Amino acid sequence: MDSFSTLIRTASHEQHVEAETSTFMSDLLGGRLGVDAYARYTEQLWFVYEALESGAPGLAADPVAGPFVQPELFRLPSLERDLAHLRGPGWRSTLTALPATRAYADRVAECARTWPSGYVAHHYTRYLGDLSGGQIIRGRAEKTWGFARKGDGVRFYVFEGVPNPAAFKRGYRELLDAVPADDLEKQRVVSECKRAFTLNTDVFRALGEEFPLSA
Ligand code: HEM
Repeated sequence: MDSFSTLIRTASHEQHVEAETSTFMSDLLGGRLGVDAYARYTEQLWFVYEALESGAPGLAADPVAGPFVQPELFRLPSLERDLAHLRGPGWRSTLTALPATRAYADRVAECARTWPSGYVAHHYTRYLGDLSGGQIIRGRAEKTWGFARKGDGVRFYVFEGVPNPAAFKRGYRELLDAVPADDLEKQRVVSECKRAFTLNTDVFRALGEEFPLSA
């Protein structure tokens, strides 16, 4: 049987393509959207990472989720700097979650509270994605809206504490392969990972509706 890390990657491949090629992502990467759309997207990420990272301390000692709680991954401080840059110092007062974002963040928070393996599915879907495709998004954002390379506006994509992403991802896959769960539970985690992708795609759909191309 394939390793768990292979299983989870393979199982989410189709949905990964769907997320990558969503209208909103394609427009964003294609440089067809204004910086306000990028800022709105960054705001949505804030809610997701708030759920992921405020749930983390409570899971640090958990046998399944604990090894994944690694402070060098934490994105919330970087997101907050980006938002201050994008929206100004009063960014918190205008921050709102789309209903799709609320649903995503609520599901992450629920897993953090009640189901550590489910939390791992969300952890994987976000952080491994940010370390991978996130780098492509950063490059496009710098180019399209003129942010300083790895500077304010794109700090979310810059993992200062992960100098070697390829090595980190290898280590992460080893952690996945070492998850102490039986096959049935692993299948449930795979299902939750698919759900995580769906939740992301739902957010992209809502953003696409908010920022249609007038062309
Ligand atoms: C336009 C947007 C995206 C691009 C260009 C992109 C690109 C990529 C690339 C090139 C990889 C492969 C990296 C490698 O093999 O080391 C990757 C991996 C990954 N991406 Fe994305 N991605 C995008 C969006 C997303 C989204 C929205 C999610 C989910 C929230 C996501 C989650 C992941 C995950 C979990 C992996 C790791 C797969 C694994 O090795 O297990 N990606 N992405």
